[in-house]
Amino acid sequence: MKLPDYKEARTRDIREYKTVEFKFDNKIKNKYKGMKFHLKTYGCQMNEHDSENIKALLVSLGFEEVEDYEKADLVLLNTCSIRENAHNKAFGMLGRLKHLKMEKKDLIIGLCGCMAQEASVVEEILRDYKFVNFVFGTHNMYQLPNIIDEAIKTNTQQIEVLSREADLVEGLPVIRTNNYKAFVNIIYGCNKFCTYCIVPYTRGRERSRRREDIIKEVKELVSDGYKEVTLLGQNVNAYGKDLYDDYNLANLLEDIANLGIPRIRFTTSHPWDFTDSMIDVIAKYPNVMPSIHLPVQSGSSRILKLMGRRYTRESYLELFNKIKSTIPCVTVSTDIIVGFPGESEDDFLETLSLAEYCKYDNAFTFVFSEREGTPACKLKDDTPLKEKEERLQRLNEVVNKYFLENNKKLVGKVLPVLVEGVSEKKDMYYGYSDTNKLINFKSDKEVLIGSIVNVLILEAKTWSLDGELDG
Ligand code: 5AD
Ligand code: SF4
Repeated sequence: MKLPDYKEARTRDIREYKTVEFKFDNKIKNKYKGMKFHLKTYGCQMNEHDSENIKALLVSLGFEEVEDYEKADLVLLNTCSIRENAHNKAFGMLGRLKHLKMEKKDLIIGLCGCMAQEASVVEEILRDYKFVNFVFGTHNMYQLPNIIDEAIKTNTQQIEVLSREADLVEGLPVIRTNNYKAFVNIIYGCNKFCTYCIVPYTRGRERSRRREDIIKEVKELVSDGYKEVTLLGQNVNAYGKDLYDDYNLANLLEDIANLGIPRIRFTTSHPWDFTDSMIDVIAKYPNVMPSIHLPVQSGSSRILKLMGRRYTRESYLELFNKIKSTIPCVTVSTDIIVGFPGESEDDFLETLSLAEYCKYDNAFTFVFSEREGTPACKLKDDTPLKEKEERLQRLNEVVNKYFLENNKKLVGKVLPVLVEGVSEKKDMYYGYSDTNKLINFKSDKEVLIGSIVNVLILEAKTWSLDGELDG
């Protein structure tokens, strides 16, 4: 048994790591043929992509996926720690699984992902959730086959969590959710330690994948006919710093753009590391999508300092203006937290005025959520929750107004759309534009899912646009 140690997870030293090749233990290949699994994923795209690896590992063990968790022999929760409600959802699901296990004694239940890295969560599982069969963390996902095998074979609870990052494992099997859009990890972890954020503790320090491994993966995706890759990392802009003296995200984007994949996206960017050469590469290559997620978190320099964000309102706006003026038709989206400890009404008004200025195309807005072990927990916080929720509502009114206003400007324009499917109402196709706008459109002709088509925009809504196939 290996339990997460929060003290160790909090240390900031950067360790040497090796890149090692994954090997599946052939003794247990297909050992669980005939058994069914259900995997539930919470949180960000990083977790979604991890789940694509987890699925492939489970399939190698012989398991088959089912949609209904009540029909599964094994239920695994890939969890998220970012805010309290993500926590509550996973614990709620564990509660439901406890009841199911009373009826189905052989049900195997597992928990992995970010919550598994939290010492307090694992303590709670050991104390109150003894029916959970196994737990593994974000740093040892590759051990899943043996952990599950051990849990089933010995019928004992297996808790295997490494507190800190370990070697970087290449060559994990993957079952992708989609056969035209793919996630590609480029960097794991985060060194920024923003004072509200749990990610550096649950995902470890920054470790970049070797450029040749990334290029090889994208080349394979191109030859498999993929149309879009999203380069993933908690802070993609730090790519390469831990590995190379003179190779960074701008170089990587350029190398990937030259492989000829039609669409390249990347997420998430920290404004602090966003260089001019990155802006130039995005502007230069038509297959690097003109859509940038640039989390601001707050419009008040005082709060940004307390958040440990390493930029001010002014320097953020300078970067924002440079992006807007250099990259034609670029859209910018953001993340904003309201109600950070000590945020006054005046600080909040600065966030509102920044949102008015930036007129974002999309924004994810949150009320600050206290995460155990992060420095922000120790700050004095005397704003009542009700007031924070009101601030969130006021902010949402402003950002929503600009989503609609920006969308209205697109009526009459023709946008390229990567077609993802047919909407529930069945009469419209849907997909995303190069600028990451959700587009629903009609077509008399049949349109191929996974193709990129031109759509004439006819109507703007707050979160989507309606149109028809052009030509
Ligand atoms: N409370 C509220 N929001 C948070 N985020 C990260 N940590 C917290 C927290 N403790 C938000 C940030 C980040 C996004 C992924 O989640 O805005 O950019
Ligand atoms: Fe968290 Fe992002 Fe800050 Fe890293 S850069 S600590 S992931 S908010």
